[in-house]
Amino acid sequence: MENQDFISIQEAMDKDSGEVSIRGWVYRERKSNKFVFIVLRDSSNIIQCVIKKGSVTDEIFEEASKLLMESSVKFYGEIKKDERAPTGYELFVKDMEIVQIAEPFPITKDQSPEFLLDQRHLWLRSRKMTAMLKIRHTVIGAIHEFFRSNGYYEFEAPIFQPNACEGGSTLFEVKYFQDKVYLAQTWQLYAEAGIFSLEKIYNVSPTFRSEKSKTSRHLAEFWMAEMEAAWMNLEQCSEVGKDEIKFIFEKVLKENKKDLEILGRDITKLMPMVEKEYPTITYTEALKILKEKSGMDVEWGKDLRTIEEEKLMEHFDTPVVVVDYPKEIMAFYKMEKKLRPGVDKIDAPGPVALCFDMLAPEGYGEIIGGSQRDTDIEELMKYIKKEGEDPKNYDWYLDLRRFGSVPHSGYGLGVERVVRWICGFENIKDAIPFPRTMLRKSP
Ligand code: 4AD
Ligand code: MG
Repeated sequence: MENQDFISIQEAMDKDSGEVSIRGWVYRERKSNKFVFIVLRDSSNIIQCVIKKGSVTDEIFEEASKLLMESSVKFYGEIKKDERAPTGYELFVKDMEIVQIAEPFPITKDQSPEFLLDQRHLWLRSRKMTAMLKIRHTVIGAIHEFFRSNGYYEFEAPIFQPNACEGGSTLFEVKYFQDKVYLAQTWQLYAEAGIFSLEKIYNVSPTFRSEKSKTSRHLAEFWMAEMEAAWMNLEQCSEVGKDEIKFIFEKVLKENKKDLEILGRDITKLMPMVEKEYPTITYTEALKILKEKSGMDVEWGKDLRTIEEEKLMEHFDTPVVVVDYPKEIMAFYKMEKKLRPGVDKIDAPGPVALCFDMLAPEGYGEIIGGSQRDTDIEELMKYIKKEGEDPKNYDWYLDLRRFGSVPHSGYGLGVERVVRWICGFENIKDAIPFPRTMLRKSP
């Protein structure tokens, strides 16, 4: 079988009939005296293969009987339609070459999530993980395409950073020669420098937060897709976020139908993201909805917790952009909304920030966080101090307000949050190949 032209299982099935050579791994095997049934898988699909005694040499039949799950093998044979086969086709094997006979595979049916995480290096080849990886590939590709086709430049920030941006409590400290630095919590502060060169920029990078909470939506290492743009206000910025989500969903629904089917994801739940407009409401309106429709009292000035986000989103089937959170509970860089009495609609009892969170439906929570950035040095220093940081360490950042400061805004999208939502997964850990959390750092 050395000189065969191998095609993928999907290509073989698309060919519909005739002789083909395929290769892959044993997904399932069943044996009798006269037959060996192998379901073979490769990255493209699975197919049932039949090895019949008498149709191959006795030696090959003997060898085929030894194949265990995940053994690697090459088959040559005749493909034909078969309604009873799992993917509608069957390969009648005429020749075979075993590449490696696998040891008994440790992953069998009905294993616990923790066991599957211990075996992640092997579990990655499951149909579930393969489908997720393909969807993830589409999502990240769509993000790059979305920004590049809208005039954004890709811009990189360092991963080793001297400053906090999203609060000191989730910083990962790293020994840096004789000194210490932190792993990037966000690309944002450097992006705010980058816009003075490129104006509209974006990036997709690993992001690190030492999240001490064990939730289904926090990772210690995750991928964040961020954008930053000069001359952009909050409203324009949140519209970009809506367009980006719509673009991602269009791509996934076009390219990953089969994968969504493998995952058993109800596509009708995903359709509103491409068909409908996403509403924007204020934080204060969100509290009103919670009170009136969910009977839930939230004190103005408290951040929305997971339970409140979930309750709020029971009333929507698309993402919702929530703007104008109380300034006091927001990160230092979010600009205060200066309301002009008699001109602006004032629905809040206290100062609010020009910021937004985009919340996903079906309880998938916050997927985007963004804001218009404060350009007032005094204000920034005040809030940096309030977070327990030394404004001296932010001098380079404050310089950006000293040399041609302009209004600017940006946001970050959690890639795994979006992948989890699209896939309909219980836990965010299934949305990344090798998850990192407080309790998991291997394999
Ligand atoms: O809301 P966050 O903290 O915003 C920022 O970091 C801003 N500096 C972004 C910006 O304006 N450029 O994080 C942004 C998004 C969240 O909405 C969430 O989707 C995701 O990143 N995220 C996480 N995803 C997985 N695990 C975690 N621990 C996450 N923390 C945030
Ligand atoms: Mg946030």
